Amino acid sequence: MKNKVNIAVIGLGHVGNYLLNELNTKKKDIEQKTGKRINVVAISAKNKNKKRKFKINKSIYFSNPLDIIKKKKIDILFEIIGMSDGISKKIVELSLKNKIHVITPNKALISKHGDYLSKLAEKNKVNLEFEASVAGGIPILRTIKEGLATNKLYKVYGILNGTCNYILSEMEKTKDNFINVLKKAQNLGYAEQGNPKLDLNGYDAFAKIRILSSLAFNKKISKKNCLMEGIENIDYKDIDIASQLNFRIKLLGITEMVNGKLFERVHPCLVKKDSYIGNVNGVMNAVIVHGKPVGESVLQGEGAGPGATSSALMSDLLSILRGNIKHPFGLHNNKRKKALIYNQKNSSNSLYLRLEVKDKPGVLSEITKLLANNKISIERVIQIPDHKKKSASIVIITHKAVEFRSQNLINGLKKNKNMIKKPILIRLF
Ligand SMILES: NC(=O)c1ccc[n+]([C@@H]2O[C@H](COP(=O)([O-])OP(=O)(O)OC[C@H]3O[C@@H](n4cnc5c(N)ncnc54)[C@H](OP(=O)(O)O)[C@@H]3O)[C@@H](O)[C@H]2O)c1
Repeated sequence: MKNKVNIAVIGLGHVGNYLLNELNTKKKDIEQKTGKRINVVAISAKNKNKKRKFKINKSIYFSNPLDIIKKKKIDILFEIIGMSDGISKKIVELSLKNKIHVITPNKALISKHGDYLSKLAEKNKVNLEFEASVAGGIPILRTIKEGLATNKLYKVYGILNGTCNYILSEMEKTKDNFINVLKKAQNLGYAEQGNPKLDLNGYDAFAKIRILSSLAFNKKISKKNCLMEGIENIDYKDIDIASQLNFRIKLLGITEMVNGKLFERVHPCLVKKDSYIGNVNGVMNAVIVHGKPVGESVLQGEGAGPGATSSALMSDLLSILRGNIKHPFGLHNNKRKKALIYNQKNSSNSLYLRLEVKDKPGVLSEITKLLANNKISIERVIQIPDHKKKSASIVIITHKAVEFRSQNLINGLKKNKNMIKKPILIRLF
């Protein structure tokens, strides 16, 4: 690459605008570290006149980002819009085809089109970098691709969504309900104002898990449906009961190879209060990697926010400027095979069950009968009566139960006439 490097930044929102300021203020530092002089020569967003935290140079603004490729000589392009398709995919595709290196924090795009786009990057001998797409400022992808390159990884898991982790931690701290804490998270900028659904229903963490799986296990990105549950139905009551039992509730993303098959999942888990993961609170993210011969490695840090995300984007930039041209997923696309998929119905977990029932004789024995019919054995039962309402909460911790039997049990419980509310099931980790 020549010594003067032209850069384009597409998308000037929370992340893009912050990154632009980093690029403009750290030119000298970058030159000292890489010998390259960067210059931002084109920018684009949706609205030219929008008020932004850091002022933009309107003389290099393009209303249509696709024009940048035609009219300017660009070496490296940042796509920071965030769509899984549409203009985000178009601009990345066009850039790679025109031999422009691409850097993006867009997990939606990479988890959906990463295989195709990485093939395009390889064909055109340019980089496609996406460190910021998983766990914000934590350098987890580079750690897997480079630091742990020759290890055989078999499990990667962690807290991958800062919004959910903040909400769960804050519910425990303030004893408040989900809706109030979500509002607080939105006011603080930890949850999206408009539509926070993709964070709360597990989709965001799932996109990150898919990227992690393909890197950790050298596979194509899986397209199969997997176990995905969010935190929208987590009640303060469960956080409180879990706490009394020495557990915390965390939304975990987990990917592992089970007998050569890929098992990906995102769901709330009860984790021990004294475990490492049980003490990652607030907006923090953490990723834990198991491999041979390295053993267990833990990375923790800020998983979102313009600063942390820009830190990862800048690390991608320096990697390219240093001439580190490599396969986006760590090995040639032809060598990445389609993963065989583990049947999640055969997985097993201990369960936390909370059942709101009518307080009358015989109810508990009906429940234990259903458990026995599904070959699920009980480790602990707690009954909390509410005499005024003539109801009771029955909390059961089970020994390990096979997933398809757990689902049968829930279906059976739903049909039971003594059940006042939908049964709650949270898996133990
Ligand atoms: N925010 C975080 O903490 C975080 C963390 C990790 C990864 N990411 C990823 O970073 C990316 C951006 O996130 P963000 O939070 O910065 O989003 P954002 O604040 O909503 O910014 C999106 C930007 O895209 C621009 N845009 C929309 N449509 C466009 C179009 N047709 N042409 C050109 N520009 C267009 C918008 O323009 P206007 O400004 O004019 O409206 C805006 O500047 C996403 O992929 C996200 O997943 C974000």
